[in-house]
Amino acid sequence: MANLLVVGTQWGDEGKGKIIDFLAASFDIVARYQGGHNAGHTVYVKGQKVVLHLIPSGILHNEKLCVIGNGVVVHPKAFLEELQELKELGVNIDDRIVISKNAHLILPYHAQVEKINEEKRGAKKIGTTSRGIGPCYEDKAARQGIRAGDLLDLSILREKIKENIEEKNFYLGSHNRPRLDPIEVFEEYKRYASQIKKYIKDVSLFLNEKIKEKKSVLFEGAQGTLLDVDHGTYPYVTSSNSTAGGVCTGLGVGPDKIEAVLGVTKAYTTRVGGGPFPTEIFDDKGKLLLERGNEFGATTGRPRRCGWFDSLAVSYACRVNGIQKIALTKPDVMDELEEIMVCVGYKYKGDMIRHFPTETWVLDKVVPRYKKIKGWKTSIHKEKDFFSLPSAFRDYVKCIEDLIQAKVTIISTGMEREDTVFIEEELKDWIDLEKVKAEL
Ligand code: GDP
Ligand code: IMO
Ligand code: MG
Repeated sequence: MANLLVVGTQWGDEGKGKIIDFLAASFDIVARYQGGHNAGHTVYVKGQKVVLHLIPSGILHNEKLCVIGNGVVVHPKAFLEELQELKELGVNIDDRIVISKNAHLILPYHAQVEKINEEKRGAKKIGTTSRGIGPCYEDKAARQGIRAGDLLDLSILREKIKENIEEKNFYLGSHNRPRLDPIEVFEEYKRYASQIKKYIKDVSLFLNEKIKEKKSVLFEGAQGTLLDVDHGTYPYVTSSNSTAGGVCTGLGVGPDKIEAVLGVTKAYTTRVGGGPFPTEIFDDKGKLLLERGNEFGATTGRPRRCGWFDSLAVSYACRVNGIQKIALTKPDVMDELEEIMVCVGYKYKGDMIRHFPTETWVLDKVVPRYKKIKGWKTSIHKEKDFFSLPSAFRDYVKCIEDLIQAKVTIISTGMEREDTVFIEEELKDWIDLEKVKAEL
């Protein structure tokens, strides 16, 4: 099967975890290329809820390999805790996880620096997940980060921790924060090293060799296109490239290895944290989406801001990632609505805009123009076939396809693996549907 990238087309939480979990049945390897434990991917398997933050969402299929690329930032404690939770659920982890030696490590000072930076921003705070993600990527770009490979040589690790903490203590002290003890931090990370070192490898070499052996890879995106540090609504973004380009830099594979791209798109829009959100709903319809969609952050528990589907935003994501096919998630949340709004353009300073602008000062002022669509007013949760879905729902799908110029190939109608409708014709060249269906 083709190597497939699965990427979020909005501000994250599109339901990537659910889609990747069941698609993983068709692949040999699932590889994360960016982000860290800021991600929260909720997966349900036979009524059992599992929230994955750092470990790829292929881990629940016993024989799949899960790879954490150099583009990911790894908090060793978070990684080990997640591993432990999975073991307690009876998931077999042995020899199934690989971490890149070049992945940067999150240290205790990163979350503290993030807290100071967020406080300094005041009303303009980003509303980060407080996991130390941004400051870790800052150290990477400043060429002073500590990488997973450094855990393999304790004298190097000791020296790097000492140098970093000397500098960070200066910053923490100047903001009246307690200073860190480099020896304590080293001892803590030495313990992690002994538990993690067996997973550390040259991921670029590993993946390319596997691909040569005809193993197939599902590239797992975290966050979403509009949170990408280059292509998102900067500065209200995360600190990594969540879009397609991040696959190559974040795993050390060439662009020819991405043979297919599937966007994951929620039937409405959500956003956690600060930043512009043109189609945000402030009335009881927003509350309905929040409640029926259970839109609370999987990582921080924060309520997600809810809004209507924004075709400008999703078309933009299709352009940036080269998406021609999408998986549409959570339309069941809108089952009860009389009418559904879909944003088809923005009015800005008297003109109509049809392409998504990423500048916050523009997005803050645009007035969305909507097309009203009749609701289907019935439960679609148990439907298994596209043509059994209500015709009003199929009209809604067609409307979205026309607006974003991409085909809907998967419709997710609930949280469980089996709550899924496949448009088989569109998927047959990409995935082995028999294998996927066998594990639903
Ligand atoms: P991710 O970060 O993109 O993996 O998405 P999250 O897991 O953070 O958020 C998606 C939430 O919606 C999770 O709680 C899923 O269990 C749930 N979910 C996924 N697909 C569907 C769906 O089609 N319908 C409903 N009702 N819930 C869904
Ligand atoms: P998944 O993979 C939704 C948001 C934060 C904040 C901004 C920056 O579950 O879709 P960070 O801690 O990354 O520096 O925060 O990005 N954010 C997410 N929002 N889903 C996510 O991941 C997110 N990861 C980060 O809320 O606005
Ligand atoms: Mg999430």
